[in-house]
Amino acid sequence: MLPQRIIEQLIAIVGESRLLLEADDLKRFGVDRTTLWQAAPCGVVLPGTVEEVQSIVRLANQCNLAIVPSGGRTGLSGGAVAKDGELVVALDRMNQVIEFNPMDRSVTVGAGMITGQLQQFAEEQGLFYPVDFASSGSSQVGGNIATNAGGIKVIKYGMTRNWVVGLKVVNGAGDVIELNKGLAKNNTGYDLRHLFIGSEGTLGLICEATIQLARAPLESSVMVLGIENFAEIVDVLACFSHDLDLSAFEFFSQLALEKVVAHRGHAVPFQTETAFYALLEFEHSSPEIVDKAMALFEHCLDKGWVMDGVISQSLSQAKNLWKLREDISETLWQWQPYKNDISVRISRMADFLGEVDQLVMEQYPDFEIIWYGHIGDGNLHLNILKPELLSVDQFHNKCVNVSTDIGQLLAKYEGSVSAEHGVGLLKKDYLHYSRSAVEMDMMRSIKRAFDPNHIMNPGKLFD
Ligand code: MLT
Ligand code: ZN
Repeated sequence: MLPQRIIEQLIAIVGESRLLLEADDLKRFGVDRTTLWQAAPCGVVLPGTVEEVQSIVRLANQCNLAIVPSGGRTGLSGGAVAKDGELVVALDRMNQVIEFNPMDRSVTVGAGMITGQLQQFAEEQGLFYPVDFASSGSSQVGGNIATNAGGIKVIKYGMTRNWVVGLKVVNGAGDVIELNKGLAKNNTGYDLRHLFIGSEGTLGLICEATIQLARAPLESSVMVLGIENFAEIVDVLACFSHDLDLSAFEFFSQLALEKVVAHRGHAVPFQTETAFYALLEFEHSSPEIVDKAMALFEHCLDKGWVMDGVISQSLSQAKNLWKLREDISETLWQWQPYKNDISVRISRMADFLGEVDQLVMEQYPDFEIIWYGHIGDGNLHLNILKPELLSVDQFHNKCVNVSTDIGQLLAKYEGSVSAEHGVGLLKKDYLHYSRSAVEMDMMRSIKRAFDPNHIMNPGKLFD
């Protein structure tokens, strides 16, 4: 419960209608997509300007009130969960285009802008915002930056980090800081902008972002290929990426395909059933590039890596093929999946796949395991579906043990326990498999420098 005196001060900052205290609002704003924690914030505040954000942070420092920054709440690691009476600061109202600069090809937007609206804005200017993922219709730019969101085009365009050329933030001490100011080149010491990218709300609140836009992409084609052996997906990737400039190389298992087809009513890509499918996309300026892709496909068939395949003949066919991959995450929610979001270097992927597959088969003989992910980036999503008979707690306890085994395997392969979803509450116990004790200490020191009173998203990333 917020004391009356703080309620009055918050109302003085944002106005009465922008402080939400009703149970329904607390529930809605206090969680992300995870289901392990209950929302229990003390209130939700909706500032409309950077100055209001600053006043809220200053007040929180005076009253020792913890803040959870909230974007579109599409996160998968509990990074935006307010379970311990924190104040949620939601930037939904700060969603405007602030400045578009055609010469720089950059746009400054409020952190509450929906990712899909930024993509749309870029398209209207004849440009392109290339960070894309299934939740782009509801995730917000600030949340994308705070988690350094990846998605389906990282192989060509990189992660969110690559596209952020400026940030306006309020740090945990309540200072407004402008970071990098849209510059393409700026060698003036530590680049604090990059500390905020991926900081998961632990250093401060991202209020505005200047985003570099790309040139509009060329026409693209999508291929789906049927592959029988897990490790051979990597052979197919090596073959295609050697000769083609791929804009995506994704994969999913037959079980993932079955679920999506059953629950979304999509058509299968072809009749041959294989254990795995790779979905790849490439942009082309001439028919020769498509011919080259077909020759690579033939080569993979001859090698016995690929059993069957299809290439899109139209934009709508390309979109339908993409749905087979993009709709997996949403389809699986009904099974309350235990999600893993792991990565290793591509060159180590084939060996890692063999070991992780073996481990999972031994440890989860009775569970339904769904594989998919961005294999072109070395990023696997391993989803374990909750059997109906197990309670959420029983299920979670079983999965936690295997996460430890996977963590150890990742340490051996020098991989990451979180390739793109972030650490949040869900993975902080496994962070040490990817980060050394010295790194952890340095991260804690950095947090202290930005957030001396430890009010920003406490308990996320590390304790
Ligand atoms: C995806 O690749 O579909 C997203 O990261 C979401 C998920 O892993 O469920
Ligand atoms: Zn993903």
